[in-house]
Amino acid sequence: MSFHHIKTLTLISYLLAVSGLLPATVYANHSVTTDHAEKQLAANKQSMQQIIAHGEQEHKNHCYKCHTDKVYTRKNHFVRSLDALSKQVKRCKNNTNAPWFDEDTNAVVEFLNQKYYKF
Ligand code: HEC
Repeated sequence: MSFHHIKTLTLISYLLAVSGLLPATVYANHSVTTDHAEKQLAANKQSMQQIIAHGEQEHKNHCYKCHTDKVYTRKNHFVRSLDALSKQVKRCKNNTNAPWFDEDTNAVVEFLNQKYYKF
């Protein structure tokens, strides 16, 4: 066998291997990606539930000094967007001594949005 033949054979076996393996690799990658996306989605859902639970707790601890939940559902409630809700929660928070980081404030916004406003 000449050197040239060996090279050709190597090339053919390489091509066979690649064409045989490629679909399997793509498939494997695809299912790994889907799996990963599903896990990520589940994790996001879980962390959203944790955020909302945290928001509910903080709200309970700091937000009943001046009004009840009725302000959120009264007929002429003035908060009409997520942005307005976020601003109002910050305003009200500044009138309490709630020692909140932005995460806590945001968690309360998420909680109020999920339970009452539904923007
Ligand atoms: C110092 C008193 C005070 C505290 C404490 C307070 N609020 Fe308020 N809040 C108000 C007042 C006053 C209004 C306006 C009520 C009105 O217009 O009759 C209001 C209104 C709101 C609204 C808008 C309701 C609507 O009409 O859509 C939201 C949302 C709100 N508060 C969230 C909170 C949150 C969250 C907390 C806890 C950080 C909180 N408030 C604590 C005084 C307070």
